[in-house]
Amino acid sequence: MLTEWVRVFGRLHPILLHLPIGLLGGLAALEFVTLFRKGIVSRGAISIVAWLTAASAVMSATTGWVLSDEAGYGGDTLETHEWLGISVAAASVVVALLHALSRGGTRVPVLAAYRVALVATMGGLLPAGHFGSTLVRGEGFLTEPLRAEDAVSATATSTYARLIAPIFSARCMTCHSESKKKGGLTLENEAGIIGGGVDGAVIVEGKPEQSEMIKRLRLPESDRDHMPPKGKGQPTAEEIGRIEAWIAAGAPFEGNVPGLEPEPPIAPPDPNAVARLEQALVHVEAQAQGSNLLWIDFAGAAAKTTDATAAELLTPLLDQVEQLSLGHCGITDATMALVAQMRHLRRLDVRATGVTDAGIAALAHHEKLEELILVQTKLTDAAVSHLAALPALKRVYLWHSGVSEDVALKLHEQRASLEIEAGDVRDAAVVETEKDLQLTNTAPVAGAPPGAEVLAPVNTTCPVTDRAVDPAYRIVYKGRVVGFCCPKCPPQFWADPEKYASKLP
Ligand code: HEC
Repeated sequence: MLTEWVRVFGRLHPILLHLPIGLLGGLAALEFVTLFRKGIVSRGAISIVAWLTAASAVMSATTGWVLSDEAGYGGDTLETHEWLGISVAAASVVVALLHALSRGGTRVPVLAAYRVALVATMGGLLPAGHFGSTLVRGEGFLTEPLRAEDAVSATATSTYARLIAPIFSARCMTCHSESKKKGGLTLENEAGIIGGGVDGAVIVEGKPEQSEMIKRLRLPESDRDHMPPKGKGQPTAEEIGRIEAWIAAGAPFEGNVPGLEPEPPIAPPDPNAVARLEQALVHVEAQAQGSNLLWIDFAGAAAKTTDATAAELLTPLLDQVEQLSLGHCGITDATMALVAQMRHLRRLDVRATGVTDAGIAALAHHEKLEELILVQTKLTDAAVSHLAALPALKRVYLWHSGVSEDVALKLHEQRASLEIEAGDVRDAAVVETEKDLQLTNTAPVAGAPPGAEVLAPVNTTCPVTDRAVDPAYRIVYKGRVVGFCCPKCPPQFWADPEKYASKLP
């Protein structure tokens, strides 16, 4: 109990320390005025101020000394600050004593000594305060606005110096510098980062998830172990991701980490390649206005698409594909090897294709793939380990893929953030999700007789909207190919086929 109260007493230091500063300044001001107008302030009043100054200085030094015992502070700065603080306190007592001695009469040497002591004490206050603020604010706080920001990062050669050190410097160094090692940790230099804190290493090279630093950064802000502490400037999600990627790459201090360097801009798609896709009735669309990334949907050409045609059409566009639907195409793992080279691919639909475990293995560690539709493929439970290795994967559809529900569930336990759709539902439900996923129509195969070629639509205007048909969106209804204007219309058509079919020629 006593020690708790002592700690509280110690924490008064930041408040108390302002008292001697103010009082000492006041005392000097009073003495200064009396130089010009003798007797304007009584010696008695000055004496009170002098003793108050001494008492508050002693209190500040004592509380500071108690506070320094608490975890977090250490090093040369603390020591210097401590000695200066104690000296100022002692000097203030000397000032008060000399003042008392000088009161008796005109003992000139005593009065002179008192004045010298007062000036000297004031002089000691400046560096004491400076080192104290260095402790709290970190090295160079005072002159920070004078330094050009990020002067290092522009000329730095290593990925660490350019992309990682500035994060530590901006978010951590007020508490984890050479002069202020909270938790025994400095993030100011290589030795400090490798050396770790009071609890040992803070990074495990190549293993961000085992690194204390990442664990703490990822804790909810309300957790008392979260870093930086609640209410202090927090790094952005992107910055945390950057530190994580740096640790994953082995936390090198020299050289470049390729994955962390800014990506080269994406070249515009080859217009001839796009034209060839359109001729083959494959739907191609820019992901956004002005974007060079593409959404490519083979729905309209599914029945005619094989590994060979897919390779021919997609190879010139590997860098541009962001979303790719190959559902119901006659493709196998050979196409998956091609798909693995699409570095910007985020969403891949290979439902009802010949893709097997080897095809998923070919995607190994694809960095951006977020969504994977594997419904009605030819997988086994072995595919799950390859899925688990996809770092960006957020959602995977596994109905009728051959992966058992148990194993899918295990994957979910392993990667809680991964959404897995693997419920034991009938085909109807599969069709239903197509709507949720806003896929273009994949119904041609569902309605067509097995092996049927998908031909040109029988209609030129959409039966739902009466707008012109886009041949990319087709279904087979009662043996006839029906075209639509957009991907939203086929689901509407299926909701009441009789009604819309009457509009067909
Ligand atoms: C406002 C002060 C403050 C800031 C800013 C701060 N920390 Fe800390 N940090 C502390 C304190 C205090 C401790 C010791 C208490 C504890 O272990 O929680 C600590 C401890 C740690 C530890 C554990 C050291 C060990 O071995 O116990 C790690 C790792 C850490 N901080 C990382 C960071 C990182 C990374 C940042 C910047 C993104 C950061 N901190 C920013 C105050 C801070």
